[in-house]
Formats: sequence, C-alpha cells, structure tokens
Amino acid sequence: MTLKGRIARSAFAAVIALGSGLAQVGEANAREVRVYSGRHYNTDRQIYKKFSQDTGIKVRLIEATGISLVERLKREGSSSKADVIILVDAARITNAAKAGLLQPYRSAKLDREVPSIYRDPQGRWYGLTRRLRVIAANPSLVDVDSIRTYADLANPSLKGKVCLRKRNNVYNQSLVADQLVLRGEAETRSWLKGMIENVSQPYFGGDVSLARAVSQGICGVGIVNHYYVARMRGGVSGPKDKALADELVVITPDPAHVNVSAGGLAKYAENKKEGIQLLEYLASPDGSQGMAGPTYEHPLKGYGTSLELKKFGTFRPDGVTMAQLGANNAKAILLMAESGWK
Ligand SMILES: [Fe+2]
Repeated sequence: MTLKGRIARSAFAAVIALGSGLAQVGEANAREVRVYSGRHYNTDRQIYKKFSQDTGIKVRLIEATGISLVERLKREGSSSKADVIILVDAARITNAAKAGLLQPYRSAKLDREVPSIYRDPQGRWYGLTRRLRVIAANPSLVDVDSIRTYADLANPSLKGKVCLRKRNNVYNQSLVADQLVLRGEAETRSWLKGMIENVSQPYFGGDVSLARAVSQGICGVGIVNHYYVARMRGGVSGPKDKALADELVVITPDPAHVNVSAGGLAKYAENKKEGIQLLEYLASPDGSQGMAGPTYEHPLKGYGTSLELKKFGTFRPDGVTMAQLGANNAKAILLMAESGWK
C-alpha cells in the first residue's frame, strides 16, 4: 500500500459514523457526507445526528485539531475523502482556502443565512458559529472599570498584571489582525508594545489555564474566548473550575472582535450535493443554534440563550470581516513577533 493509502486508511479507522441505520446498510446509493472537523466538541455530534434523521444522509465525522487537519488534507491531495471541512477561526479557514483545499460554490440559502461579514466573498467558506475575544479580570488585582477595550491592556497601570496566550495560537493572531484593520499599523504596534511590557508571567498554552491563573491571582487580567469562561461557569469542567470562573469579571469590549467557526466544501468532494446540504443545514437558524448552544458560542444571528451567556450580556461586533482577519494573519504574526510576544 502506498504511503498515501496508509494515511487515508488510518484516518478512516478513526471515523465516527453517525445516524447509522438511516441509510440502508449495503445500499449502493446510500447518501453520505464526510466531514473533516477541527472542532473538538463532542456535542457537535448531536447536530450531525439531527441532520441525518431529517435528511437520511449519513454523516461520517473525522476530528482533528485545525493544523493537523489541514496538513492531512494537503497530504491526501486528490485522494482525500473529505466532502466538508470545518475549522475554527477565520484565519485557519482562509489559509485552507488559500492552500486550495476548498472549492467555491454559491448557494442562495447560505448567502441569505450567513451575513456577508461572516463568509468568504469568493464563496469558498461560510461562518457557522460566532465567538468573541473577551477580557477576563480579577477584581481584587485590577480596577475593572478602567478596562474597556483591548487597547486598555497597554496601560502602564497594569504593569506585571497582564497575561497572554502564546503567539502561535490563532485566536490572538486574529485579534491582532482585527486591530490592524481597525486602527492601522502604527497604533497596533504601540498597543502591542505597551501590552507586552505589562506581561511578567510566562506565556500560556491555552485559554482555560489563563482564565484559571487570573482567577487565582497569578495574573490580574488576560484575553480569552468567551465560551471558555461560560463553559467553566456552566460546570462543564467540574466544580473547581466553576468556582474559579465565577470569581472572574468578564469584560466584553464594545465593539468586540468577533470570530467564527466556518465550513466549506472540500476541493475533491465526492458528495458535493450532500455537503452543500449539510452546510446549509448548519448555517440555518436551528443548525447554527444547535451547533453553538452546547459549546456556549453564539449563533450567526442573535445570541446564545444559556444562562451563562445571558449574564455576559449582548455584544456589538466591530464590523471587521472574516476575510480581513485572514488576509492580515501573516502581518499580525510578524508584528507579534517583533513586539516580543512569545
Ligand atoms: Fe477554542
């Protein structure tokens, strides 16, 4: 067997078939759609299952982190079995499109359901759920009323109190890209310089460890995706995390940096029709809410309905498009490196 074949085989050993029994076993023309997903949330399976029940189309799900999924797709090339690719963060899906892993298509339904700022102008990918980069603060260490925006984290009064996740994570890259679009390069550089000067702790490997450290008083303030705090508060990772998250003050900048999970049709999709049908389903109000609800994200339109999200209040997106985040990703990484962001 060729290396390519071995990789494809091992990939499919991990396949999870959903909605089995709906498509007749052994039926030659059983309809199915194969999803490569960088979303590592078990709860997504519920929405795929519902799609299968409603349409009779079987969903085969392959999960991997965003980067390894993209690497796998590049390796597989034209022998890839992927029909639909789902990734978190606008920069990741843009890079997948740039690498030629997606194919453009137009769907009146998707154009209607997905606001234009949340989709690719060339129709290669469409946003499915929304997430915000928020500021988590420890009220006993910082004056929370003095922190309103990401720019405020450069205030010298926060010296030694700011904690950040490592530069290699795409969430902060997209935040920096967002600020580049809104404020321009000079202002973004000076924000980064001031904020990095306020960092004394080693850079964090994840948003959850950072949120915990802020609550424990190791840090005064940090930047995290909103749903991590909401999940902790919802008890998803146990009572200890819940207690820690309950102590945090969550500041949603107004306007806020909004990002998405997004999906597109794979370049070599065999089940193109089914793939489009799945994407249309996920982008619909019910589909988007169904995908966003269990992970404490927000749907494409409106807001999440959980108690935890309601406590955060509503938000106003800053209007930067997902395509702009992707287009400024490389520049953002460069500026972060030059500013000393580890
Ligand atoms: Fe995440």
